[in-house]
Amino acid sequence: MSTLPGDRSDHDALGSMLRVNHAGEYGAARIYAGQMAILKDSSMSETIRHMAEQEEHHLAEFNRLIPEYKARPSALLPLWHVAGWALGAGTALLGKQAAMACTVAVETVIAEHYQEQLAALGEREPSLAATIAQFRAEELEHHDIGLEQGAELAPAYGLMSAVIKTGCRAAIAIAKRV
Ligand SMILES: [Fe+2]
Ligand SMILES: [Fe+2]
Repeated sequence: MSTLPGDRSDHDALGSMLRVNHAGEYGAARIYAGQMAILKDSSMSETIRHMAEQEEHHLAEFNRLIPEYKARPSALLPLWHVAGWALGAGTALLGKQAAMACTVAVETVIAEHYQEQLAALGEREPSLAATIAQFRAEELEHHDIGLEQGAELAPAYGLMSAVIKTGCRAAIAIAKRV
């Protein structure tokens, strides 16, 4: 992550960062799309639409940064496409509180992930770091909205939260490489 041109390991590390962030925002956009498909006529629709629009912005930014950094996108985008939508729609089918429990779990893991990247970047790549910091703040906003909207009242909240967090951490570990 130094500015040395042709520094292979730094290029690879940045490429991995952009790949996992792009895949994560791609998956997040699909989760919110899945929620919207089920809850578009509910009292939650405006809240979910607001978060979905921010995820589309996050995704658009990494769509722009992937070629700028000559990074390779995840080869598993078709998987994130299906899995993200299924997670969003599946939890929404269990009810509004379950949808919010999904949001809280996902955004907890994404915010942790962005915090780790900011620590790893330190003073390097200030423009990228600023983007990640802004997105992290918005993920935390989504997390807080989920809690305000009754996530913890969802059936089997503790179990659902643990399963979704484990799945998200696994997806992050995979998308760093593939
Ligand atoms: Fe996001
Ligand atoms: Fe988010």
